[in-house]
Parts: sequence; structure tokens; C-alpha cells
Amino acid sequence: MNIINIQSLGVTLGDPLFADLTFTISKGDRIGLVAANGRGKSTLLGCMAGDFEPTTGQVTRARGLRIGLVEQNIPANALTQTLYDFVLSGLPSEQADYESWRVDVVLDDLQVPVDLHRKLLKDLSGGWQRTALLAAAWVTEPDILLLDEPTNHLDLNRIALLQNWLGALPRDVPVVIISHDRAFLDATTNRTLFLRTERSRAFPLAFTKARQALDEADADDERRFANDLNKASQLRKQAAKLKNIGINSGSDLLITKTKQLSERAAKIEAAARPAHQEKGAGDIKLSNSGTHAKALVTLADVPVTTPDGRALYKTGTKWITQGDRIVLLGTNGTGKTQLVKMIHRALMGDEPAIKCAPSVVLGYSDQHLSQLDDADTPMTAVAGKFDIGDQRARGLLAGAGVNIQMQDTKIAALSGGQKSRLAMLVLRLQHPNFYLLDEPTNHLDIEGQEALEEELTGHGASCLLVSHDRSFLRNVGNRFWQIERKRLIEVDDPEAFLAAEMDPLP
Ligand SMILES: Nc1ncnc2c1ncn2[C@@H]1O[C@H](COP(=O)(O)OP(=O)(O)OP(=O)(O)O)[C@@H](O)[C@H]1O
Ligand SMILES: [Mg+2]
Repeated sequence: MNIINIQSLGVTLGDPLFADLTFTISKGDRIGLVAANGRGKSTLLGCMAGDFEPTTGQVTRARGLRIGLVEQNIPANALTQTLYDFVLSGLPSEQADYESWRVDVVLDDLQVPVDLHRKLLKDLSGGWQRTALLAAAWVTEPDILLLDEPTNHLDLNRIALLQNWLGALPRDVPVVIISHDRAFLDATTNRTLFLRTERSRAFPLAFTKARQALDEADADDERRFANDLNKASQLRKQAAKLKNIGINSGSDLLITKTKQLSERAAKIEAAARPAHQEKGAGDIKLSNSGTHAKALVTLADVPVTTPDGRALYKTGTKWITQGDRIVLLGTNGTGKTQLVKMIHRALMGDEPAIKCAPSVVLGYSDQHLSQLDDADTPMTAVAGKFDIGDQRARGLLAGAGVNIQMQDTKIAALSGGQKSRLAMLVLRLQHPNFYLLDEPTNHLDIEGQEALEEELTGHGASCLLVSHDRSFLRNVGNRFWQIERKRLIEVDDPEAFLAAEMDPLP
């Protein structure tokens, strides 16, 4: 049964994002929605939910359809609510008065510890905030779930839990998932829609197999296009020959035939379509300004605490030296971000317990990219803060995937991935020699993740980073620090930690 019908749908925002999309969502569908950053995935989800008015075409929803939408970013007004109240606010008010038990059931299903229920969302980790969004959507008992990058900010344990939770949902509830996490898509979907500006393609397969089918379909298109052009050129050659003969012999029949051949060639040429060419969503480049200092940061058994002063763990004596790419491992809430923030404060001269070499130039990006102000424009974030001149700033922004239209629009209007790419450009302009990165791959498409990997490893940059992306942290890290039983210990590789994290929960 059709739940949502999408007919010849198109959205143009400045440039066309996508056009002529026809697609049906039925019971039992688990759909992966895949495209590079800024291509309109979130916008399409908004169209499905009825929150965004398309430029052309229509979306028809089954009568009375209840939609559970989990957006890519947490709404600002949610942050000042407690986790429990926020989930409760998902229910209509009369239901909220009498059926608050529904909230308890959902939070229990999603294994949210009771001591977090009354905490303000702004004081909770990104992972718990996303879990709260999911709970608020599910508590309304929707007939379809639309999830925009649900694994962002989740640690591996929560990703495994989400995988299992989705797997246990009633089969007749369709789910649409936008994600750049290949392993997650493979585990949770049975159809894949590759969103493209023209001729989007869908396959009844999970991501990896669908990707192969897409490559084959593109190769077929390529061959067909070459064949068509070849056929047209043959026809034109024949037409030219015939024309000469026709003129010499004065035969009307041959002249008509010549015309027919040329018309056939023109028809084939008009119908021939080149294969899709995938364009990247912009460059990611980093710089490494180098330093002569050997130890960049010295941790002398520093106690790490929560913002309200509760002891989490002690660091032991540790040094961060040049060329170290340290990955910090630990489950959600063990205090990875707290250590990152402490080192950040130390480098700002505000944390006496940690010693830093004076020559360290920091490049810092936090989990929510709060170094960028949503009310700024990309142009003011770049030309306004660095002495590089307007023209160069525009060139750099365009190179990073922020087109001329968006350069003077508020940063809030950028897609998640475009914002991450802008954040990386701002970092690069600071010419750091030490990077402190908290979950830098959130929102980045697969190509963007790989580019960031190469930039970090290729320039001999030193960094301390937190990431839940298995392939990213394996590829980037050359040292691994793990938070375990109130200590920070050095481990040879992340495998034991990753294996334990992906194990189903007790
Ligand atoms: N006012 C505007 N004028 C022109 N383009 C706009 C405007 N507002 C938004 N856009 C563009 O529309 C697109 C919105 O895309 P959307 O957020 O749906 O992308 P996405 O595929 O979800 O990307 P990501 O993977 O980064 O989340 C972006 O390319 C953005 O730059
Ligand atoms: Mg998006």
C-alpha cells in the first residue's frame, strides 16, 4: 500500500536542487536516501513531511498519515527543556496530560537512563540530544519515520542500539533514512534512492549493492550515449555521400533520402543524454604551519570533571608531540568532550593544570560547530575575520562548495555538510599546527570524510580527535587513548574497544 506518492517533484533554490522525481513509499520500505552534501536531501525530507513547499510536482500522503520527522539539527527552543518534557511535548496536549506513561515506555525502549530524564537538553551530549529527538518523534506513534542523519553524534554503542531498535519496529512502518554511514545504511535499509539534480535513481537494494547497481547503470548510460553519437555520425556520413551522388545525378529520390538520413541523425542526437557526472560538494583542505616545540601539550595526571564538578577520570602523565594523531575513545558521556574542552581552555591560557608549548597555534572545531555564528554570512566569517581580501575570500568559499548565492546568505541556510566544509575552511585560514576536533565527520558526505582523512594524514598535522566513525578513526589515528574505569590509558589500536562497543547491549 502506498503511504507517500511523489510525482514529478522538483525544488529550485537559486539553482535546481532536484527535478522530476517520481517515487513511491510503501509499507515495509526501509529507504536509504543518499547524495553528496547540499544536494537537497533534507529539503526532500521536508517535502515528504509537508513542511517544505516544492517548486514543481506534488507529494500525496495517505489520508490522516502521521509523520515522525527527526531533523538534522536540534531546534533551538528544545535546548532549554528537560529531556523528558521535550519528548512529552511531542504528544498533543490533551494526550500529554493523561498519557505521559508513553514517554516512559519510549525512553525505556531507547535505553535512556532515568537520571538523564530531568536534565536540560543543552547540558546533555549530542548523542542524547539526538536520542531525545527520535523519542519525541516515535512517542506520537507515527505511520512513517523520516530520519535525517540519525547517527550523527551517536557513539558506536548507540549506533548498534539504533540499528537493533529500527530492526524491531513493526514492518509496516516505512522508514526513510538520510545517512553518510555506509555500514549503518547496509544494516538498516532495503531500498536506496540516489538523489540527483536530474534523473534520480532508486534500487530495491541496501546501500553497498545499490551503489554497485548505480555504477553499472551509469556505465550503461555512458555506453548508450557513445553508441547513439556514433550512430548519428554514421548516418550523417551516409547522408553526405548520398547528397553528392544525388546532386550529381539530379535524383529527387536520393535528395529526399538524404534529408531523411539527416533527420534521423538529428533525432538521435537530440534524444542522446550523457551519463550522470558526479560533482564533488567542494574541497576540504587543511594546512599545517609546523612548530619547533617537541611536546605540544603536557598532561600531568590532570583530573577531568563534568561542568558541575563531578570527577570523571584522571589522565595519567601524557604528552602530545608533533605528528601525533590521537584518537580519544570512550562510550557516550565518559568525558571525551570534557578533555577536549579542557585542552582548548589550556591553549586559550585559561587552564593552569595543563601545560602547552607557547608556539602552538590551535585549530579547534567543536561538536556543534559553534565556532561559526549562524547569524553571520559565510563572507563575513571568512573575509571579515581574515585579512585575505574579498576576491580571494569568494574564490576560497566557492572552492569549498559555498556558491556565490550562499556566500552572502546567513550561515543558518547552509546544509549541514556545507557548514562543516565552511568550518574546515575557517580552520585552514587560522594556519594551525595543532588540531582539536570533536566529531569532525558529522554531516560530511563520504567523499568529504575521505578528503579530511587525507588532509590530516598527508600534512603531518598533529591532532587530538573524537570520532565515532569506524573507518575514519582507523585511517587517521596513530595513537589511541581510551577512557576506562576512571583512567585514561594508551592502547595499541582501537579494535578491542570497537568490538566491545558494537556488541549488542546487555
Ligand atoms: N536561499 C537560498 N538560495 C539558494 N540556495 C539555497 C538557499 N537556501 C538554501 N539553499 C541551498 O539549498 C540546499 C539545501 O540542501 P539540503 O539542506 O536539503 O542539503 P542536504 O543534501 O541535506 O545536505 P547535507 O548532506 O549537507 O545535509 C543547499 O545547497 C543550500 O546551499
Ligand atoms: Mg541535510
